[in-house]
Amino acid sequence: MIRAVIKYGVGRKGWRLLGIEDSFNGLLTSPLRITALTPVACKGLLQRGGTILGTTNRGDPFHYPGQQGTEADRSGEVAAAMKRLGLEGLIVLGGDGTQRIVMDLASRHGVKAVGVPKTIDNDLGATDLTFGFQSAVDCVTDALDRLHTTAESHDRVLVLEVMGRDAGWIGLSGGVAGGADVILIPEIPWTPQGIVQKIEERRALGRNFSLIIVSEGARVDGKVLGAGKAGSYVAEAIEAILPGIDTRVIVLGHLQRGGGPDAFDRVLATRFGVCAVDLVEAGRWGELVTLRNGKVDGVPLEEARINRNVHPDDELVRAARAVGISFGD
Ligand code: F6P
Repeated sequence: MIRAVIKYGVGRKGWRLLGIEDSFNGLLTSPLRITALTPVACKGLLQRGGTILGTTNRGDPFHYPGQQGTEADRSGEVAAAMKRLGLEGLIVLGGDGTQRIVMDLASRHGVKAVGVPKTIDNDLGATDLTFGFQSAVDCVTDALDRLHTTAESHDRVLVLEVMGRDAGWIGLSGGVAGGADVILIPEIPWTPQGIVQKIEERRALGRNFSLIIVSEGARVDGKVLGAGKAGSYVAEAIEAILPGIDTRVIVLGHLQRGGGPDAFDRVLATRFGVCAVDLVEAGRWGELVTLRNGKVDGVPLEEARINRNVHPDDELVRAARAVGISFGD
């Protein structure tokens, strides 16, 4: 995405482009942490995951973390630093939390910005897809493909814990692509008995192994299990009902956010970057780049407030059920 903005904005439109390091934090330090984004900064970017600018999920300028759990509103400093640098506006990449900060900076300090949806969770209602999601799904699919081997040869139940604190898209899509037998996501209530029922159905057919995906945000009695805990909870719950069953837990964790972007995300990021430049050129500040029905265009940034969770009747959930995947319900 950064590459596309540099190539198009700087290379073709002649912009002066600065990269702000570690999200808004780069505007809150002295000296400011900024990088000139010239065409040479693009070198090797296409295949590279993450971001050359760094990032943080602890840098909300409206609730800036201080000593001993204190918080300060430093949002005015962001606007002041932008003014000192002579910045006309911002192109901000991030998920729902980041885009909310951008909207608040706009309404309270008149900051001009264009948002670009980037999160592996794919949970922004305004866009059909965020970039990063498909690469994460590829990682989950690859993990399931690899786990299949041991599960089958050793007659085991393998539980793969994946990301998705609030939304189950990664678990759902990865589970369908990798042929999981059970998918447990935050949006669909499940029970250990529901999981065991599927395991036993498979055993009755001579399939003595099962692959189970659980999102870290899967819930028990309304409470989120959480990263690093969800997988082991599920395995223990199965063992409590089926003593002697051989289970193993694999926490995929940050592998899902690492490595290079896949071809789909490279294309999407390029389209999003080009659209962001076009929106700025057209003075369409306050918009969010989105993909809808195959077309990339801007919509009011306000729409980034709407989260998109998996609806239990979603077409993909129905397709998964149709091919025999259980949701543990
Ligand atoms: O927001 C994206 C996300 O991948 C969530 O699904 C996950 O819970 C979280 O990030 C993990 O973030 P951290 O790096 O802080 O553990």
